[in-house]
Parts: sequence; structure tokens; C-alpha cells
Amino acid sequence: MISRQAPVGVFDSGLGGLTVAREIMRQLPGERIVYFGDTARVPYGSKSRQTVLRYSRQIVNFLKTREVKAIVVACNTASAVLEDFRDAADVPMIGVVKPGAFTAVHSTSNKKVGVIGTEGLVNSGVYIDYIRELDPEVEVFQKACPLLVPLVEEGWWHDDITSEVVQRYINGLKDQGIDTLIMGCTHYPLLRSTFRSLLGEEVTLINPAYETSRELMRLLESHNLSRIPDNLPPKHEFYVSDDPERFVDFASSVLKFDIGDAEKILIENYD
Ligand code: DGL
Repeated sequence: MISRQAPVGVFDSGLGGLTVAREIMRQLPGERIVYFGDTARVPYGSKSRQTVLRYSRQIVNFLKTREVKAIVVACNTASAVLEDFRDAADVPMIGVVKPGAFTAVHSTSNKKVGVIGTEGLVNSGVYIDYIRELDPEVEVFQKACPLLVPLVEEGWWHDDITSEVVQRYINGLKDQGIDTLIMGCTHYPLLRSTFRSLLGEEVTLINPAYETSRELMRLLESHNLSRIPDNLPPKHEFYVSDDPERFVDFASSVLKFDIGDAEKILIENYD
């Protein structure tokens, strides 16, 4: 039987999923999180579907050993193939793509939505499928932005070079007249101010983390799995597949508290 006091598993290829973990901590401050960042194998966006599936299955297997009560796939690239590894989990699991699509459809007025993400995400076409399911009249314009994940992992969040790269990627989308842009990679909210300054106020930026956290809340409530609050602040755990030190610095700056430490694990052993 799953315990409601158990933690929620959250994973990504690296730092990006921390933007989702941050939102979960904001909306569900009583929940404990076990975070896994696959820092040795980032980026996922340029890898084949088969590889992303294998990595995701290994991570789910690892999270099972931490006895999580639910899993949030805090990576759009892995969320794009979620239905093909759902069977690996024995607890409820949600991704970020469906909530992102839902928010965008409810936000657009002119029915022109842009999606930026990794090559894997864009090639999968999942945002187009989910958006069309919700509203067939919405036009979707996609752009893969493969250089952005390495720039974020490098810590160049507020940098002229990053701004130039972003500019090149989004110019075409601006010309299409989009009024809504889905940040379809969980690394991208760390570049939010750059997007905002290049796109202006007239384009709504969608961070799928917000609706994903709401969905997690509904899911936990409907399964009677919401944590019963005690008076202690929840003790989160962080795991990575490469150098924990660098991760600890970045994670502490994204989450705005000192995460303490992170443990390196051999994720390949969880096949
Ligand atoms: N942050 C991830 C995503 O949302 C993956 C980025 C990558 O590893 O390429 O797609």
C-alpha cells in the first residue's frame, strides 16, 4: 500500500526539472520531493526515442527504490514518450506536456501558439496533437532550440550570447504572429527574462510547471495521497548521475535555499 507520507519523485535530464520542483514546492509546500537529475547523460533532446525511453525506465526504477507515491516527469522530452514507459511505474505518473498544452489553449486569443523545445520534443509533435485535441482551430508553430539546454546547464542564464541565440530561434515565431509561447523544455524558464525582453509583453509565456503542479495536487487528493502536515519542513532529497557539487550550487540558486547535498548514483544499474 502506498503511504501518503511518502515523497513525490521528480526527474529530468539535469537542472531543468528544478523549475518544476520549485513550483511544486510553492503550490504543495507540505510535500517531500525526491529529485533525480541525469546530469551525466544530459541533454536528452538530441537522443533517440529509444534512448530516452531506456533512461526514463531506469530512473523510474530508481525512484521506486525511494518508495515514491507519485512521479512527475519534469522533462518535456521524456514526457513526449511517457505513454511508452508508463508501465515501468507502479504509482501514478504525470508529465508536463498535457498541462502545458491545456494552459496554452486557454491563454491564446488569436489561436496562434508557438512551441519551443528540444529536437526530440519538437519531432515528436506531441504538443501539436494535444493542442489539436483540445481545440482543432489553434495553429501551432514549433521551433527546436538545441543550443539552449547547454547554455542553461553552463549557467549562462543572463548573458548576451544566450540572448543572441534566443533571438535567432524566436524570430520566425514572432513573424508568425503568435500571442502565446510554450516554454516546452523545463530548462527554459531559467531564461524567462530573456524571452520576455525579446518578445515584449504582448506574447504570453507559458511555463507548464504551474498547471503540472495543480494536476499533481488534484491527483494526490483524488488518490487520498496528500501528505498529512507535521510541523517540520519537508526534507527533500536530491540525486544525480554525475558531479554532485556543481549540481548543489545550481540547485540552491534555482530553488533559493541551500539544498545541502546531493548523492551521486549509478543510474545504469537500474535497468
Ligand atoms: N529539460 C528537458 C526538457 O524539458 C530536457 C532537456 C534536454 O536534456 O535536452 O525537455
